[in-house]
Amino acid sequence: MSNIRTERVIDVHHWTDRLFSFTTTRDPAFRFENGQFTMIGLEVNGKPLLRAYSVASPNYEETLEFLSIKVQDGPLTSRLQHIKRGDALLVGAKPVGTLVKDNLRPGRTLYMLSTGTGLAPFMSLIRDPDVYDRFEKVVLTHTCREVSELAYHDYISKEMPAHEYFGDAVREQLIYYPSVTREPFRNQGRITDLIDSGKLFTDIGLPEFTPEHDRIMICGSPEMLADLQKRAEDRGFTEGNSSRPGEYVIEKAFVDR
Ligand code: A2P
Repeated sequence: MSNIRTERVIDVHHWTDRLFSFTTTRDPAFRFENGQFTMIGLEVNGKPLLRAYSVASPNYEETLEFLSIKVQDGPLTSRLQHIKRGDALLVGAKPVGTLVKDNLRPGRTLYMLSTGTGLAPFMSLIRDPDVYDRFEKVVLTHTCREVSELAYHDYISKEMPAHEYFGDAVREQLIYYPSVTREPFRNQGRITDLIDSGKLFTDIGLPEFTPEHDRIMICGSPEMLADLQKRAEDRGFTEGNSSRPGEYVIEKAFVDR
């Protein structure tokens, strides 16, 4: 168990009956890069039951934050959804992941494309001041079936622009583009369709992304990743990694809990 630490739950927020987020204490020795994920979970029948979760908080915070779905018969989330302040949470000590700044070459606009809980790593990255130093504009898209699933919507659109630490950068550089597919909303449709039609770019007032100027991070379901990866590759973007930075990176949002 030496590479698993026990933290304590500080706060739990239920967004919907299928989606919740929570904060925990953080061992100061737990270091991670914004955008990475780690194993977290609970002790069940005397054994650790762990799943991969992106850290949603930025790495300068004293606490850790995670975003999770609730799967009623999921081995972990059927239990995790009931956690309360003071409960123990197991956190793996070895964070990893490809959605990190250094896996991308320098560029003009950074696009972060997410669906569902794929938003989590980007909640960390959009609170990283260095992201705003590296890119002129940062575009965060988040697509969900229903409006109520747009977790952090008010935090991103109302609280972040007023934040004392990164508010200026957010106001000038962050473009948040939420969209919904199964009920009326100001932006409607899958991100794939919004890219194909060009509506995304028209709405945000930027030219279509190109590998010369722009960088893309993608996090969502396997199908969403495949569909967006194809669009990136068709436009000439190459995938980056830690040994060879590129023009886009992808990570599966972990859903089968
Ligand atoms: P849709 O409602 O058209 O299926 P889910 O909850 O199934 O993970 O989906 C989250 C969001 O991602 C939904 O808005 C869904 O749209 C959208 N989505 C699902 N599959 C894809 C895909 N292959 N490409 C783009 N968006 C997708």
